[in-house]
Amino acid sequence: MFDERSASSSTRALLDARKPGHTLPAALYTDQEAYKADCDIIFSRHWIAAGVACDVAEAGDVFAVDIGSASILILRDDDNKLRAFHNVCSHRGSRLVPLGRSVVGKLVCPYHQWTYDLNGSLALAPHMGVDFDRDLHHLTPVSLKDIGGILYVCLSQTPPPDIDELERVMEPRLAPYDLRHAKVAFEQDIIEEGNWKLTIENNRECYHCASNHPQLSLSFHAADFGYDPDGLTDAEKAEANELLDAYARHGAHWDKEGLDYEAVEHTVGWPTNFRTQRLIIAGLGESQTPDTRAAVALPLGDTDRPWLGDVHLWGINSWNHVMADHAVIFTAFPIAPDRTLVRTKWLVNRDAVEGEDYTLENLTSVWKQTNREDAHLVALAHKGALSPGYRPGPYSRFTERALDEFTTWYVERMIAAETPS
Ligand code: FES
Ligand SMILES: [Fe+2]
Repeated sequence: MFDERSASSSTRALLDARKPGHTLPAALYTDQEAYKADCDIIFSRHWIAAGVACDVAEAGDVFAVDIGSASILILRDDDNKLRAFHNVCSHRGSRLVPLGRSVVGKLVCPYHQWTYDLNGSLALAPHMGVDFDRDLHHLTPVSLKDIGGILYVCLSQTPPPDIDELERVMEPRLAPYDLRHAKVAFEQDIIEEGNWKLTIENNRECYHCASNHPQLSLSFHAADFGYDPDGLTDAEKAEANELLDAYARHGAHWDKEGLDYEAVEHTVGWPTNFRTQRLIIAGLGESQTPDTRAAVALPLGDTDRPWLGDVHLWGINSWNHVMADHAVIFTAFPIAPDRTLVRTKWLVNRDAVEGEDYTLENLTSVWKQTNREDAHLVALAHKGALSPGYRPGPYSRFTERALDEFTTWYVERMIAAETPS
């Protein structure tokens, strides 16, 4: 039996039809019913990256974000504590705050001015009578976790406990960068004309990098994300061997610095899907900028040390690159079967001054261009999934292993939702 928040029988049939090692049946990318099931299961029962702690640096700072059909607000209360609530008034359900960032003293509903303290309790409800019990009309809290300055929310009453594993792995890896006290230097929203899973699949491989991302490729080693050892030219083989040698040298250096760098993969078999690894930055090795040098004069946290590389972190709806001079934090939110919001935030030291310590052009150009290129690829893939000519295609076992893991994880989580949690 399916409960109302489980995949419908037709979505279940599509999930069962998924061929291992292949892309998903088309309708899982294109149909409204599958989209709704994704929102109800993946985005409502898992830990979803929602933003960054430095978005709400001061008491009264709030930001709101839509996750599927839910709207969530995250704020910093008067005791400096981060809290998340449904962005829904307890009176007649109006949205409380607009999407994006705002600053409030209290949360005042625009409809009839019910007023909430920043801890979510209802402070004022005019014209409700002397016998009205305000204590019964608290805002509905949402589970929130701040991991190294990246904020995750879970809409379920029973959030997956393995978020503790993400915290255990990432707190020490992110600690030197002190992202909690960074600032958002620039933020960009783009809409990709494709299903959110195509956005994530596109992100999980660098098979497409050499031919599509000329600028990113200056600071990225595509070989980090796999290659067919028998398909390399002699020059490519030499390059791959050089990269292996470089990892041996960097590994020794990172050991000395006390920095974790080994890959950790927590994907199939777990609710909270993530992968992290410290990567070597190509070129001059400093940052993902046009000349591969640091974009920001002031480093993040206590990272005033050379050769820290790039702490990459993938999650269910996010990907991140954390470097000594800046961090790029990406979140993806489904807004329709064929539309995905991709939000990119560039974080820098909060004391860094634009125009003196960095320029936005130099800081943002690589990923702005890469986002444009990726949006184009995701739209092409979605168009293909809409076509009667589409058949699930094979992933490369060398360059697309992470995609196979992602779609396998997705199918597994959707099916697991049949068993009430
Ligand atoms: S709906 Fe918010 S005060 Fe009425
Ligand atoms: Fe890409």
